[in-house]
Amino acid sequence: MKIELQQLKEEALQSIKSASGLEELKQAEIKYLGRKGKITKVLRGLKDLKESERKEVGSLANDIKNELQAEFSQKKNQEGGVKKESFIDVSLPGEKIDKGHIHPLTIVQSELEDLFRSMGFIVLDGPELESDYYCFEALNMPKDHPARDMQDTFYIDKSSLYNKDEENKDLDLLMRPHTSPVQVRGMQKHGAPFRAVVPGRVYRSEVIDACHEHTFDQMEGIMVDKNISVTNLIAVIKELIDGLFGQKMETRVRPGYFPFVEPAIEMDIKCTICQGHGCPSCKNSGWLELVPAGMVHPKVLKYGGIDPDKYSGFAFGLGLTRLVMMRYCIEDIRMFNSGDLRFLEQF
Ligand code: PHE
Repeated sequence: MKIELQQLKEEALQSIKSASGLEELKQAEIKYLGRKGKITKVLRGLKDLKESERKEVGSLANDIKNELQAEFSQKKNQEGGVKKESFIDVSLPGEKIDKGHIHPLTIVQSELEDLFRSMGFIVLDGPELESDYYCFEALNMPKDHPARDMQDTFYIDKSSLYNKDEENKDLDLLMRPHTSPVQVRGMQKHGAPFRAVVPGRVYRSEVIDACHEHTFDQMEGIMVDKNISVTNLIAVIKELIDGLFGQKMETRVRPGYFPFVEPAIEMDIKCTICQGHGCPSCKNSGWLELVPAGMVHPKVLKYGGIDPDKYSGFAFGLGLTRLVMMRYCIEDIRMFNSGDLRFLEQF
């Protein structure tokens, strides 16, 4: 009988070892220790033994049973079957909840909005699906004007529009290629004197690569009042650039061309990467183009309902996306609209 018990023990240990998974373990446990299990049977048979034998075999059988039980529960723990008694340690720090991140464009946009508000500007917004009239016509670019080709505009097939509003019936609609249409909309709505910035999305039919996107952001600025001159324009843009980079920046002014401003200028900053010595980022010129601007064309003031004999003004168009790229050294413009968390979590 003792030999039989030893054999059973070996057999049981073997099946504990070879059991894969919780289910097999449970089956093995039932087979040996269950109500009708092999070891249990031996224990039940003890009563038929002689007194002297019963003691010896009985204690051996009990030992084996206990040993096997311990083995079973240890293996079951390993398999994760028996949960440790649950205990809540209230003194442990809680699990961190992931916080959202502010998009780099939004960060810079709100900084600039604050800066301009402090100079008395209001923040405006305008439609992204815009009319040909506001995008070009009212900005001194009649239908046959060659400057219309300066931007590759997305035109809208009106028959595809869901909302065929009566008021849109005769309009040529397009995705605005710049924020400048809000210059005229703003003047019409608010009259003179008028100071506003307009952050917003613009669209151009571009071949996409690391430097070009079909959807990007600009910030338009406009100030109309009595006796506004180029000096005011340059002062405000310098303030803007210094505020943006947090230090005095070296700038230069070049002549530019846009049909809705006269004169037109381009404001450049000394290249932040090579400090003006020349590098691939500034195409070896030592300067980076930053802000196109100019004095609002008298015709545009008129379209805005403002008398150009009484008032004058300036306007500028910041490439917001490009600014953000320079500020944070973002090399690929495609990151902006990617929604990639690896990018967003860095801000
Ligand atoms: N709208 C022009 C562009 O998108 C920029 C600009 C704005 C230039 C205002 C002059 C004045 O390129």
